[in-house]
Amino acid sequence: MYTLNLHDLTIERFLAEFWQKKPLLIKQGFADFADPISPDELAGLAGEEEIESRIVSNAGGDWQLETGPFDDFSSFGEQNWTLLVQAVDHWHPESAALIEPFRFIPNWRIDDLMISFSTPGGGVGPHLDQYDVFIIQGMGKRHWRVGMPDKSLKQHCPHPRLLQVSPFTDCIDVITEPGDILYIPPGCPHDGISVDASLSYSVGFRAPAQKDLVTGLADFLIENEISGDRFTDPDRSATTAVGEISAKDLGKVKNLLQQMIDEPELLARYFGSYITHAKHELDATEPDPHYQADEIAEYLEEGSVLARLGGLRCCYIQPSPNDDILLFINGNTINLPATELSTVKQLCEQVQLDQATAASFADNPAKLQLLTMLINLGYWYFTE
Ligand code: SIN
Ligand code: CO
Repeated sequence: MYTLNLHDLTIERFLAEFWQKKPLLIKQGFADFADPISPDELAGLAGEEEIESRIVSNAGGDWQLETGPFDDFSSFGEQNWTLLVQAVDHWHPESAALIEPFRFIPNWRIDDLMISFSTPGGGVGPHLDQYDVFIIQGMGKRHWRVGMPDKSLKQHCPHPRLLQVSPFTDCIDVITEPGDILYIPPGCPHDGISVDASLSYSVGFRAPAQKDLVTGLADFLIENEISGDRFTDPDRSATTAVGEISAKDLGKVKNLLQQMIDEPELLARYFGSYITHAKHELDATEPDPHYQADEIAEYLEEGSVLARLGGLRCCYIQPSPNDDILLFINGNTINLPATELSTVKQLCEQVQLDQATAASFADNPAKLQLLTMLINLGYWYFTE
């Protein structure tokens, strides 16, 4: 378990003063930090087809990018390269634990855990990200420079798939050590160059762009065969400009579009399902054969521990206290009565179901049925 130490800052003050506003160095944010993964284990994950990985190298200022899977690293030499592995929380529970201290931000805003291993001189170069990130320094040291957003900065591609930024003025210039944490808001230029062989853990956040929201809404409407209302114009008068789409007509189109998202049920169902879809592959395997509910009750009563699949996105919407609840799990929507709020919270909040929760599921047929379905989808699994 990792405990975040903000020193004299509180979470409320961090949110008010830094979140989405300015970068922050949290020296020893994780005291006595122990790496949850070794470089060799990370290299092993980078050898898997379904895990997204890349190597960025910069020998002699020549930026190169290769995508995985990788099974041999010898050609990259001893320095000036970085291996980056995406969504490690989906595959490595010990590493996934690094996300937990940041759950003062809701599940839907959290994206994934990216881990990088860098040789001396390695890094991805100065760049901007669109998302908030906490970068935790693991083994080794890294020289980080971070600046404030600056519209005059120019972006360029030293390699077709590498977007970097022009030289920037820093407000943080530090050599990070194991357990130090950097918080970097979107749009802040940053550059981390490894001093020696090092590991960095990036807890990244998700902030949908309007384009993503509209695309997601369109997919939702198609999947659910929702056409909505159609344009109407019973008040039409004759036009003298036959080619023109009038401001009045355009206003009606805007209203028609807005009416759709003004429908609270539709908006909730769409957004919950959209935002809980995993962006990266999950390590889900359906048990074969499927469990029966009474078998699960028996295992729970015997003290078996149930864990939630790494990276599984669980959220809920309850518009007001006595309303039914929409529980969203990896894009699936489950309707539950308001009385099941504690069940829903347990599923969304607990990475491992604690003993009391497990017993409450074993004792209640409706809850057990729900859990059986989730286990048979491979979303929760017995760890012992
Ligand atoms: C890295 O870990 O090498 C890159 C992290 C970042 O700058 O976003
Ligand atoms: Co970055």
